[in-house]
Amino acid sequence: MERTFLMVKPDGVQRGLIGEIVGRFEKKGFKLVAGKLVTVSKEQAKAHYAEHEGKSFFDSLITFITSGPVFAMVWEGDDIIELSRMVIGKTKVTEALPGTIRGDYAAHTPFNLIHGSDSPESAEREIANFFDESELVPYAK
Ligand code: CMP
Repeated sequence: MERTFLMVKPDGVQRGLIGEIVGRFEKKGFKLVAGKLVTVSKEQAKAHYAEHEGKSFFDSLITFITSGPVFAMVWEGDDIIELSRMVIGKTKVTEALPGTIRGDYAAHTPFNLIHGSDSPESAEREIANFFDESELVPYAK
């Protein structure tokens, strides 16, 4: 069993896509173990996107992700990191296939609706940046 951090970005929240996005992961069979609507602080955003520091789009990315509420979530499932990224679709909207969240709803790369962790290490770090362990709900086996 694996955990990942997923976040509906400000564009997804503003467009009313939280329910649609959550529904896709529920229907896939994953378990939602935590979720909350939060406004990301500059410090939290910089920590979340630390790997992109120095890139040309870093400053605008921080401005975007702190521009309005996001829906931060922790999900659980077998191979969920790899599978959730397939459900999400490619970062570049021109490469995101129809049937994926980005392929179906995103038309501009920076505004690609949702973030998903890309490795177990990233997932652990990103979950800790947004959630206290006590906020993660355990399910009965
Ligand atoms: P995400 O998968 O969350 O990871 C980094 C984010 O930076 C990406 O989604 C986009 O929202 C944003 N971004 C903005 N410009 C670019 C770009 N040129 N290439 C990749 N990501 C970009």
